[in-house]
Amino acid sequence: MNAPAPIVRLDRVRLDRGGRTILRDISLEVPKGQVVAVLGPSGSGKSTLLAALTGELEPASGTVEVFGRPMPTRNRDLLELRKGIGVMLQGNGLLTDLTAAENVALPLRAHTTLPKPVIERLVRMKLHAVGLRAAADAFPRELSGGMARRVALARALALDPPLMIYDEPLTGLDPIASGVVMSLVRRLNDTLGLTSIVVTHHVHETLPVADHAIVIANGQIVFSGSPEALSATEDPLVRQFLNGEPDGPIGFDAAPRNAQEAA
Ligand SMILES: Nc1ncnc2c1ncn2[C@@H]1O[C@H](COP(=O)(O)OP(=O)(O)OP(=O)(O)O)[C@@H](O)[C@H]1O
Ligand SMILES: [Mg+2]
Repeated sequence: MNAPAPIVRLDRVRLDRGGRTILRDISLEVPKGQVVAVLGPSGSGKSTLLAALTGELEPASGTVEVFGRPMPTRNRDLLELRKGIGVMLQGNGLLTDLTAAENVALPLRAHTTLPKPVIERLVRMKLHAVGLRAAADAFPRELSGGMARRVALARALALDPPLMIYDEPLTGLDPIASGVVMSLVRRLNDTLGLTSIVVTHHVHETLPVADHAIVIANGQIVFSGSPEALSATEDPLVRQFLNGEPDGPIGFDAAPRNAQEAA
Protein backbone atom coordinates (compact mmCIF):
# COMPACT_ATOMS: atom_id res chain seq x y z
CA MET A 1 0.00 0.00 0.00
CA ASN A 2 1.22 3.47 -0.81
CA ALA A 3 1.93 5.78 2.09
CA PRO A 4 -0.58 8.66 2.30
CA ALA A 5 0.60 11.88 0.69
CA PRO A 6 2.25 14.25 3.13
CA ILE A 7 0.18 17.27 4.14
CA VAL A 8 3.00 19.58 3.06
CA ARG A 9 5.71 18.78 0.57
CA LEU A 10 8.42 21.11 -0.66
CA ASP A 11 10.84 19.96 -3.30
CA ARG A 12 14.00 21.95 -3.93
CA VAL A 13 12.23 25.24 -3.38
CA ARG A 14 13.95 28.58 -3.84
CA LEU A 15 12.30 31.69 -2.43
CA ASP A 16 13.26 35.18 -3.51
CA ARG A 17 12.15 38.46 -2.04
CA GLY A 18 13.01 41.96 -3.17
CA GLY A 19 15.29 40.50 -5.85
CA ARG A 20 17.27 38.51 -3.29
CA THR A 21 17.30 34.77 -2.68
CA ILE A 22 16.12 34.28 0.91
CA LEU A 23 15.94 30.47 0.97
CA ARG A 24 17.33 27.89 -1.43
CA ASP A 25 17.13 24.15 -1.90
CA ILE A 26 14.34 23.70 0.64
CA SER A 27 12.98 20.15 0.62
CA LEU A 28 10.60 19.11 3.35
CA GLU A 29 7.79 16.63 3.92
CA VAL A 30 5.32 16.98 6.76
CA PRO A 31 3.19 13.85 7.33
CA LYS A 32 -0.34 14.14 8.69
CA GLY A 33 -0.52 14.43 12.45
CA GLN A 34 2.94 15.83 13.03
CA VAL A 35 3.92 18.97 14.87
CA VAL A 36 6.96 20.36 13.09
CA ALA A 37 9.10 23.09 14.60
CA VAL A 38 10.76 25.46 12.16
CA LEU A 39 13.59 27.13 14.02
CA GLY A 40 16.14 29.69 13.02
CA PRO A 41 17.54 33.08 13.88
CA SER A 42 15.71 36.32 13.19
CA GLY A 43 15.75 37.21 9.52
CA SER A 44 16.65 33.68 8.42
CA GLY A 45 13.48 33.35 6.36
CA LYS A 46 11.01 31.51 8.61
CA SER A 47 8.06 33.78 7.82
CA THR A 48 9.10 33.70 4.18
CA LEU A 49 8.84 29.92 4.22
CA LEU A 50 5.32 30.14 5.66
CA ALA A 51 4.36 32.60 2.93
CA ALA A 52 5.21 29.90 0.38
CA LEU A 53 2.95 27.40 2.16
CA THR A 54 -0.07 29.69 1.98
CA GLY A 55 0.63 30.54 -1.66
CA GLU A 56 1.29 34.15 -0.77
CA LEU A 57 4.80 33.89 -2.18
CA GLU A 58 5.44 31.93 -5.36
CA PRO A 59 8.69 29.98 -5.41
CA ALA A 60 11.36 31.13 -7.86
CA SER A 61 11.99 27.43 -8.50
CA GLY A 62 10.96 24.05 -7.11
CA THR A 63 7.48 22.85 -6.13
CA VAL A 64 5.18 23.34 -3.16
CA GLU A 65 2.36 20.86 -2.51
CA VAL A 66 -0.25 21.20 0.21
CA PHE A 67 -2.80 18.45 0.93
CA GLY A 68 -1.20 16.37 -1.84
CA ARG A 69 -1.88 18.93 -4.56
CA PRO A 70 0.40 21.45 -6.23
CA MET A 71 -0.09 25.02 -5.08
CA PRO A 72 -2.96 26.36 -7.19
CA THR A 73 -2.31 29.30 -9.44
CA ARG A 74 -5.90 30.42 -9.97
CA ASN A 75 -6.95 32.95 -7.37
CA ARG A 76 -10.22 31.19 -6.60
CA ASP A 77 -8.50 27.86 -5.98
CA LEU A 78 -5.94 29.57 -3.81
CA LEU A 79 -8.64 31.14 -1.63
CA GLU A 80 -10.31 27.75 -1.32
CA LEU A 81 -7.02 26.13 -0.27
CA ARG A 82 -6.42 28.83 2.32
CA LYS A 83 -9.66 27.97 4.09
CA GLY A 84 -7.95 24.69 4.94
CA ILE A 85 -4.98 26.41 6.55
CA GLY A 86 -5.37 28.01 9.96
CA VAL A 87 -2.84 30.76 10.31
CA MET A 88 -1.74 32.50 13.46
CA LEU A 89 0.60 35.23 12.38
CA GLN A 90 3.29 37.08 14.31
CA GLY A 91 1.29 39.18 16.78
CA ASN A 92 -2.33 38.34 17.57
CA GLY A 93 -4.03 40.43 14.95
CA LEU A 94 -7.18 40.61 17.09
CA LEU A 95 -9.56 43.44 16.35
CA THR A 96 -9.56 45.57 19.48
CA ASP A 97 -13.13 46.84 19.21
CA LEU A 98 -14.58 43.34 19.00
CA THR A 99 -15.00 40.91 21.87
CA ALA A 100 -13.15 37.60 21.99
CA ALA A 101 -16.25 35.82 20.69
CA GLU A 102 -16.74 38.32 17.87
CA ASN A 103 -13.10 37.93 16.86
CA VAL A 104 -13.45 34.16 16.67
CA ALA A 105 -16.68 34.53 14.70
CA LEU A 106 -15.02 36.65 11.99
CA PRO A 107 -13.79 33.82 9.72
CA LEU A 108 -17.11 32.00 10.11
CA ARG A 109 -19.02 35.12 9.10
CA ALA A 110 -16.69 35.79 6.18
CA HIS A 111 -16.45 32.28 4.75
CA THR A 112 -19.69 30.50 5.63
CA THR A 113 -23.40 31.19 5.36
CA LEU A 114 -24.17 29.47 8.66
CA PRO A 115 -27.04 30.97 10.65
CA LYS A 116 -26.15 33.16 13.61
CA PRO A 117 -27.05 30.67 16.37
CA VAL A 118 -24.85 28.01 14.75
CA ILE A 119 -21.95 30.44 14.50
CA GLU A 120 -22.42 31.38 18.15
CA ARG A 121 -22.36 27.74 19.13
CA LEU A 122 -19.19 27.06 17.09
CA VAL A 123 -17.53 30.10 18.63
CA ARG A 124 -18.31 28.84 22.13
CA MET A 125 -16.82 25.47 21.21
CA LYS A 126 -13.63 27.04 19.88
CA LEU A 127 -13.23 29.23 22.94
CA HIS A 128 -13.84 26.19 25.09
CA ALA A 129 -11.12 24.31 23.19
CA VAL A 130 -8.58 26.95 24.22
CA GLY A 131 -9.91 27.13 27.79
CA LEU A 132 -11.52 30.56 27.43
CA ARG A 133 -15.26 29.99 27.42
CA ALA A 134 -15.62 32.42 30.31
CA ALA A 135 -13.82 35.18 28.39
CA ALA A 136 -16.21 35.24 25.42
CA ASP A 137 -17.46 38.77 26.08
CA ALA A 138 -14.13 40.28 27.06
CA PHE A 139 -12.36 42.75 24.79
CA PRO A 140 -8.74 42.05 23.85
CA ARG A 141 -7.48 44.83 26.17
CA GLU A 142 -9.13 43.04 29.10
CA LEU A 143 -7.17 39.87 28.43
CA SER A 144 -3.63 38.93 29.42
CA GLY A 145 -1.12 38.42 26.61
CA GLY A 146 -1.42 34.66 26.94
CA MET A 147 -5.22 34.75 26.88
CA ALA A 148 -5.25 37.03 23.84
CA ARG A 149 -2.92 34.60 22.09
CA ARG A 150 -5.35 31.77 22.84
CA VAL A 151 -8.23 33.81 21.37
CA ALA A 152 -6.13 34.23 18.21
CA LEU A 153 -5.60 30.48 18.27
CA ALA A 154 -9.34 29.87 18.56
CA ARG A 155 -9.93 32.21 15.64
CA ALA A 156 -7.33 30.37 13.51
CA LEU A 157 -9.23 27.15 14.30
CA ALA A 158 -12.63 28.59 13.46
CA LEU A 159 -13.03 26.93 10.06
CA ASP A 160 -11.65 23.55 11.26
CA PRO A 161 -8.56 23.73 9.08
CA PRO A 162 -6.63 20.45 8.79
CA LEU A 163 -3.33 22.35 8.70
CA MET A 164 -2.29 24.89 11.31
CA ILE A 165 0.54 27.32 10.83
CA TYR A 166 1.88 29.35 13.72
CA ASP A 167 4.34 32.19 13.24
CA GLU A 168 6.07 32.97 16.53
CA PRO A 169 3.15 32.04 18.81
CA LEU A 170 5.22 32.77 21.91
CA THR A 171 6.45 36.30 21.26
CA GLY A 172 5.94 38.47 24.33
CA LEU A 173 4.70 35.64 26.54
CA ASP A 174 6.27 34.67 29.85
CA PRO A 175 7.48 31.08 30.34
CA ILE A 176 4.22 29.92 31.95
CA ALA A 177 1.97 31.38 29.25
CA SER A 178 4.41 29.98 26.66
CA GLY A 179 4.06 26.54 28.15
CA VAL A 180 0.27 26.84 28.11
CA VAL A 181 0.19 27.92 24.46
CA MET A 182 2.64 25.24 23.30
CA SER A 183 0.86 22.41 25.10
CA LEU A 184 -2.39 23.70 23.64
CA VAL A 185 -0.84 23.57 20.16
CA ARG A 186 0.06 19.94 20.76
CA ARG A 187 -3.26 18.99 22.35
CA LEU A 188 -5.36 20.61 19.62
CA ASN A 189 -3.18 18.95 17.01
CA ASP A 190 -3.81 15.53 18.49
CA THR A 191 -7.46 15.81 19.55
CA LEU A 192 -8.60 17.48 16.32
CA GLY A 193 -6.40 15.37 14.04
CA LEU A 194 -4.46 18.33 12.66
CA THR A 195 -0.99 18.85 11.29
CA SER A 196 0.94 21.80 12.70
CA ILE A 197 3.91 23.85 11.64
CA VAL A 198 5.30 26.09 14.34
CA VAL A 199 7.79 28.77 13.39
CA THR A 200 9.73 30.10 16.34
CA HIS A 201 13.06 30.98 17.80
CA HIS A 202 11.87 29.72 21.19
CA VAL A 203 13.75 26.45 20.98
CA HIS A 204 13.35 25.28 24.56
CA GLU A 205 9.61 25.85 24.77
CA THR A 206 8.91 24.32 21.37
CA LEU A 207 11.09 21.22 21.11
CA PRO A 208 9.30 19.29 23.88
CA VAL A 209 6.02 19.27 21.92
CA ALA A 210 7.49 18.77 18.43
CA ASP A 211 7.80 15.52 16.49
CA HIS A 212 10.28 16.92 14.04
CA ALA A 213 12.48 20.00 13.89
CA ILE A 214 14.16 21.86 11.12
CA VAL A 215 16.62 24.69 11.54
CA ILE A 216 17.13 27.25 8.84
CA ALA A 217 20.14 29.53 8.73
CA ASN A 218 22.23 31.19 6.05
CA GLY A 219 19.49 30.66 3.49
CA GLN A 220 18.98 26.92 3.79
CA ILE A 221 17.94 24.01 5.97
CA VAL A 222 20.93 23.25 8.16
CA PHE A 223 19.24 20.62 10.31
CA SER A 224 16.27 18.29 9.88
CA GLY A 225 15.55 15.56 12.40
CA SER A 226 14.03 14.66 15.74
CA PRO A 227 14.13 17.09 18.67
CA GLU A 228 16.43 14.62 20.44
CA ALA A 229 18.83 14.59 17.50
CA LEU A 230 18.74 18.38 17.44
CA SER A 231 19.62 18.66 21.10
CA ALA A 232 22.52 16.23 20.56
CA THR A 233 23.90 17.74 17.35
CA GLU A 234 27.45 18.97 17.24
CA ASP A 235 27.07 20.97 14.04
CA PRO A 236 28.69 24.32 14.92
CA LEU A 237 26.09 26.31 12.94
CA VAL A 238 23.19 24.68 14.75
CA ARG A 239 24.91 24.82 18.13
CA GLN A 240 25.54 28.54 17.71
CA PHE A 241 21.83 29.08 17.19
CA LEU A 242 20.76 26.74 20.00
CA ASN A 243 23.13 28.42 22.44
CA GLY A 244 22.36 31.93 21.27
CA GLU A 245 25.99 32.77 20.63
CA PRO A 246 26.67 36.02 18.76
CA ASP A 247 29.82 34.74 17.05
CA GLY A 248 30.01 31.75 14.75
CA PRO A 249 29.06 30.52 11.32
CA ILE A 250 25.73 32.42 11.35
CA GLY A 251 26.47 35.94 10.15
CA PHE A 252 25.26 38.91 12.18
CA ASP A 253 24.67 41.15 9.16
CA ALA A 254 21.46 40.42 7.34
CA ALA A 255 20.45 42.57 4.41
CA PRO A 256 17.57 44.86 5.36
CA ARG A 257 14.16 44.67 3.70
CA ASN A 258 14.59 48.00 1.96
CA ALA A 259 16.66 51.13 1.98
CA GLN A 260 14.28 53.00 4.32
CA GLU A 261 14.66 50.39 6.99
CA ALA A 262 18.41 50.62 6.74
CA ALA A 263 18.35 54.38 7.17
N1 LIG B 1 8.34 41.70 1.62
C1 LIG B 1 9.67 41.61 1.60
N2 LIG B 1 10.41 42.21 0.64
C2 LIG B 1 11.76 42.10 0.62
N3 LIG B 1 12.48 41.42 1.54
C3 LIG B 1 11.79 40.81 2.52
C4 LIG B 1 10.37 40.87 2.62
N4 LIG B 1 9.98 40.17 3.70
C5 LIG B 1 11.11 39.69 4.24
N5 LIG B 1 12.20 40.07 3.55
C6 LIG B 1 13.61 39.72 3.85
O1 LIG B 1 13.68 38.31 3.89
C7 LIG B 1 14.56 37.89 4.92
C8 LIG B 1 13.83 36.89 5.79
O2 LIG B 1 12.76 37.53 6.45
P1 LIG B 1 11.70 36.72 7.30
O3 LIG B 1 10.69 37.69 7.76
O4 LIG B 1 11.25 35.54 6.53
O5 LIG B 1 12.62 36.24 8.52
P2 LIG B 1 12.20 35.50 9.86
O6 LIG B 1 13.07 34.31 9.98
O7 LIG B 1 10.73 35.28 9.88
O8 LIG B 1 12.62 36.57 10.97
P3 LIG B 1 11.95 36.89 12.41
O9 LIG B 1 12.38 35.77 13.32
O10 LIG B 1 12.58 38.19 12.79
O11 LIG B 1 10.47 36.98 12.20
C9 LIG B 1 15.02 39.15 5.65
O12 LIG B 1 16.30 39.47 5.19
C10 LIG B 1 14.02 40.19 5.22
O13 LIG B 1 14.65 41.44 5.18
MG1 LIG C 1 9.21 36.00 11.03
